[in-house]
Amino acid sequence: ISHFAKGLEFKGKKILITSGPTQEAIDPVRFISNHSSGKMGAAIADSFADQGGEVHLILGVGAVKPENPSIKIYPVRSAEEMYQATSNLHKEMDICVFAAAVADYAPKHVASEKIKKEGDGMTIELVKNIDIAYTLGKNKAPSQIHVGFALETENEEFHAKTKLQKKNFDLIVLNSMRDAGAGFQLDTNKVRIFTEDGKSLESAVLPKDQIAQMILREIKNLPVKI
Ligand code: CTP
Ligand code: CA
Repeated sequence: ISHFAKGLEFKGKKILITSGPTQEAIDPVRFISNHSSGKMGAAIADSFADQGGEVHLILGVGAVKPENPSIKIYPVRSAEEMYQATSNLHKEMDICVFAAAVADYAPKHVASEKIKKEGDGMTIELVKNIDIAYTLGKNKAPSQIHVGFALETENEEFHAKTKLQKKNFDLIVLNSMRDAGAGFQLDTNKVRIFTEDGKSLESAVLPKDQIAQMILREIKNLPVKI
């Protein structure tokens, strides 16, 4: 039994969602990554699909998969692969939700063989990854809606609003690590939502499927795009 409200709120809409962590290879057996579970992205994907949307989910390795069988899943590993898959689809999408926890940096060189343990310390040189939401935000058509996420530990509202502007989002969902019941791996979340037109909204601690439905409602409430 699905937890998601069935309906046709997003019928005829094409929705792109990035979700889960990326993995940046160090050598054939090691990588840099993060604690993202992909639970929030999966819940959002299911919510859209259960409202009739055509959902395309760009999914990092190990991320939770959605339940709705109509969702098209594109598995990716690195930030670069996630960018390629996302930019291939971006133009034809109506709504893009950037829920992935993209690694900010990747090793400059990927060793072709397993790195051997030598010496008492080691340094790995990192280079900045492409910012998927920022890059595609620069090419956002007037009819497209972009939704971002921000996970912050301090000065949360300021950082979230700065990202909303900088990345050309219509709406941003803020997760604060200081809120009990919010964070990685959990089945509940507590969020604040800020929109481009200056509205804000705070949720209670709720299961992630209910948070997803709240996010969809706020997307539906955005000023109509022509
Ligand atoms: N994002 C992205 N590509 C990246 C980094 C982030 O698409 N390379 C997206 C995330 O999916 C999220 C939003 O941008 O929707 C904000 O991500 P976040 O990590 O909070 O922002 P950063 O700009 O990376 O800033 P910082 O990590 O320094 O806070
Ligand atoms: Ca980041």
